[in-house]
Amino acid sequence: MTRASADTFDRIASPYDRGMAPLERLWLRRMRRRLLAHARGHVLEIGVGTGANLPYYPPTVRITAVDESLDMLAVAAQRARGLDGRVALGQANVEHLVFPADTFDTVAASLVLCSVVDLQRTLDEIRRVLREPGGRLLLLEHMRPRVQPLTLLVDLANLPWYAFNGRCHLNRETQQAVSAAGFEVEHVERKVGGFLRLIVARIVPGAIKKPLLP
Ligand SMILES: C[S@@+](CC[C@H](N)C(=O)[O-])C[C@H]1O[C@@H](n2cnc3c(N)ncnc32)[C@H](O)[C@@H]1O
Repeated sequence: MTRASADTFDRIASPYDRGMAPLERLWLRRMRRRLLAHARGHVLEIGVGTGANLPYYPPTVRITAVDESLDMLAVAAQRARGLDGRVALGQANVEHLVFPADTFDTVAASLVLCSVVDLQRTLDEIRRVLREPGGRLLLLEHMRPRVQPLTLLVDLANLPWYAFNGRCHLNRETQQAVSAAGFEVEHVERKVGGFLRLIVARIVPGAIKKPLLP
């Protein structure tokens, strides 16, 4: 993690929940609830942010949640207080996870894969730390939509949007990248022409785990 990249999210940590409230009401809250109902066992949430997902996990799961931004984590810590010690929070770059292979039953991420620097590496790391067989990947992400003229609009908006915020790509082909990284997509729910997607995926049985370079 570079300090500059964490700074981007440190700056928006305090207004983040207020700014997201309209989208939460429109789509996100209900999608988070449906997505996280699939969580099992020991969960790793990457890019936990202010902890918006935390209230929606089933009471049976144990959660380890990481983010690179200390200011985001400070807000998440307040939310985690209501969850009976089931949440452990820590600072980490999700592109270089410190956890051993086969540690988690579920990895969850929402609105995170748009802003990692190296999407492929992040997915390889997720696959490495997920238990095989049966490890589940739960995603709620925006990505390149499949419906014109929305695809064109999002492609055009991506450049100025990225220039403005320096982190978030509007039009990543995230679902294709998930499949290419050795996951079988089991369930997809699309909103806004596929711009917003809920994805439940599993490691393809027998997919080879490649050790990542430092
Ligand atoms: C748009 S926010 C989403 C927060 C939360 N998941 C949600 O659904 O509201 C993206 C979060 O991902 C974190 N993030 C982005 N890239 C990261 C990385 N490489 N390592 C760790 N955290 C990262 C940011 O710090 C930020 O908190």
